[in-house]
Amino acid sequence: MIIAVDGYSSCGKSTLAKDLAQALDFTYIDSGAMYRAVTLYGLRNGVTVGKEEDIIPLLDNIKITFDKDAEGKQIILLNGEDVSKEIRGMEVSRSVSYYAKIKEVRCFLVAQQRNYAKNGSIVMDGRDIGTVVFPDAELKIFLTANQSIRAQRRYDEMRAKGKDVSMEEILENLRERDYIDENRKESPLRKASDAVVLDNSQLNRQEQLDVVLQKVHEIR
Ligand code: C5P
Repeated sequence: MIIAVDGYSSCGKSTLAKDLAQALDFTYIDSGAMYRAVTLYGLRNGVTVGKEEDIIPLLDNIKITFDKDAEGKQIILLNGEDVSKEIRGMEVSRSVSYYAKIKEVRCFLVAQQRNYAKNGSIVMDGRDIGTVVFPDAELKIFLTANQSIRAQRRYDEMRAKGKDVSMEEILENLRERDYIDENRKESPLRKASDAVVLDNSQLNRQEQLDVVLQKVHEIR
């Protein structure tokens, strides 16, 4: 079974997807982390802002894998190095949507994302999972939440990790990424016609999980 969770930046997609994977014993794949890892590689290897397409000839040098740390938490490896923390920083957040616009980057990652479904049931979150990566997914959730609530959640998360960011910076980054993700030519962020819309602005973590688990039980 494939569950696709799509939606805007910072609306809790990964929390929901991780909780679902745990409850159902599925594999969780964070597709956004893969775009972030490609971006980090570009930033570290001389791709300059505004010339993101220079990443194209470098794609063959990038190997992205997922693993678990000592506590069982999922980590992402870029050519064997754990970059889970670094990809969440503002530098990557500011650039990632420019890399994600590039057709070759998307083809490179979508092929790998489809491979994960060959080994069993998965929950994948992102922007184009229900529309492009897995158009036949058995369950598609399109998650939304009020923008100021999303910004507050991201701010609290970054602060809890000790990152020095302002609310303005976060809000600006969310707006910019949402705009680019919705308006790009390649696989723009869209609700799949058969996706279930879930606005979690007023739901807590357990409540949103319960709503989706109910849907899973209805179709299983
Ligand atoms: O999910 P996350 O916010 O970490 O994703 C970072 C960025 O990666 C998004 O803003 C978007 O530009 C890109 N992305 C994408 N398609 C996906 C997942 C993420 O374009 N399936």
